[in-house]
Amino acid sequence: MTVDASRSRIADPSLAPAGEQRIAWVARHSPVLNGLARARLADGALRGKRVAVVVHLEAKTAHLASLLAEAGAEVVAAGSNPGTTQDAVAAALVARGIEVHATHGASPDEFVADLLAAADAEPDIVVDDGAELTGRIVSSRPALVERLRGVTEETTTGVARLRALEAAGRLPFPAIAANDASCKHLYDNRYGTGQTTIEAILRLTNLLAAGKELCVVGYGWVGRGVARYAAGNGARVTVVEIDPVKALEAYMDGHRVAGPEGFADADVVVTATGGVAAVGREALALLKDGAVLANAGHDDREIDVEALGPGEEVRPGVTRHDLGGGRHVYLLVQGRLVNIAGGDGHPVEIMDLSFSVQALAAHLLASVELPPGVQPFPEELDREIARTKLDSLGVTLPESA
Ligand SMILES: NC(=O)c1ccc[n+]([C@@H]2O[C@H](COP(=O)([O-])OP(=O)(O)OC[C@H]3O[C@@H](n4cnc5c(N)ncnc54)[C@H](O)[C@@H]3O)[C@@H](O)[C@H]2O)c1
Repeated sequence: MTVDASRSRIADPSLAPAGEQRIAWVARHSPVLNGLARARLADGALRGKRVAVVVHLEAKTAHLASLLAEAGAEVVAAGSNPGTTQDAVAAALVARGIEVHATHGASPDEFVADLLAAADAEPDIVVDDGAELTGRIVSSRPALVERLRGVTEETTTGVARLRALEAAGRLPFPAIAANDASCKHLYDNRYGTGQTTIEAILRLTNLLAAGKELCVVGYGWVGRGVARYAAGNGARVTVVEIDPVKALEAYMDGHRVAGPEGFADADVVVTATGGVAAVGREALALLKDGAVLANAGHDDREIDVEALGPGEEVRPGVTRHDLGGGRHVYLLVQGRLVNIAGGDGHPVEIMDLSFSVQALAAHLLASVELPPGVQPFPEELDREIARTKLDSLGVTLPESA
């Protein structure tokens, strides 16, 4: 089995020039990937290795996939969420010789079929997001587990899913927790998601941030970033948390901390928990008329979309749902990750860091035999990425730092 771009399932190959333009913009603003990662990958370790890239299929991911291909890997790509796939970018990747299985708005059945098509390319290495491909290889293609050299995982949710597989004795290969690298979660989850979540909410609704009551559910890395950028835009922030330490941190950061009553006066609710139904039926019952609901976490069901019932589209990406008793709420992009499905995802410079972690993790998996189970991203590589980024910013540290 080899990867074969002609086997791809994409929406429209004629969109490739528009996708090329977006990828070129990313390439222009990615000094760490273009410098450190490209140089490290040039040693030939990835040559002939089959790499499946299953991350939100937009231009930053395409640049990563292209660098892996340039290093000699045979790359197959699929989206990690049908709402975030950009058809033009998928077309550009196929034109570059990469096999792609992804269309924007794919049905749940098509989405799974695309992931299984990526699995059927028999990858040696998986660059995953939310463990979407790894979980399916383990459950639906167990015969392929044996040939996996390893996985490198992008998200908090994915790392949690991998740890659950490990605890169940179902992770007989190494899985690098790329999310837990400093150069990933410190910047991507906090600044990247913080900025782009607020940006996407404002762009989708065309409403004002200043003076709004914004409720953030979950005060981890993502929640902290969302709260910070909301406050920076003049919103008043309330945090709903279940962890007392995080709740206290939110309080000391200057936010109001509340129990479920925090939902009652919210103009905007943003979920950032990594769980399911963080805004469930009870919370929905508390919402006031006109509240806007957005999700920044990995799972499309952080907001209990089923409990909201069918909605009427009132603006692109905004649906109005009747809660009864004369109350309506507005759901953004069907509860999918609002900054990616409702925007262009993270800033390019942020993904330059996150994907440098992924590129070096894939290179590590190709170069050495790591033990099975969830593995940390090596600290020296983390520091090298940060140092390269600082260099690109014109900041030089003293020798001993
Ligand atoms: N949108 C994006 O681009 C993007 C980027 C990075 C991460 N993510 C996703 O965002 C989610 C959060 O990531 P993180 O790094 O902040 O995780 P985290 O573990 O640091 O934080 C999650 C927080 O949510 C809290 N929480 C859990 N359930 C809750 C509930 N029911 N009510 C209130 N609080 C609850 C936890 O106590 C924790 O403090 C994950 O799904 C992650 O994969 C999304």
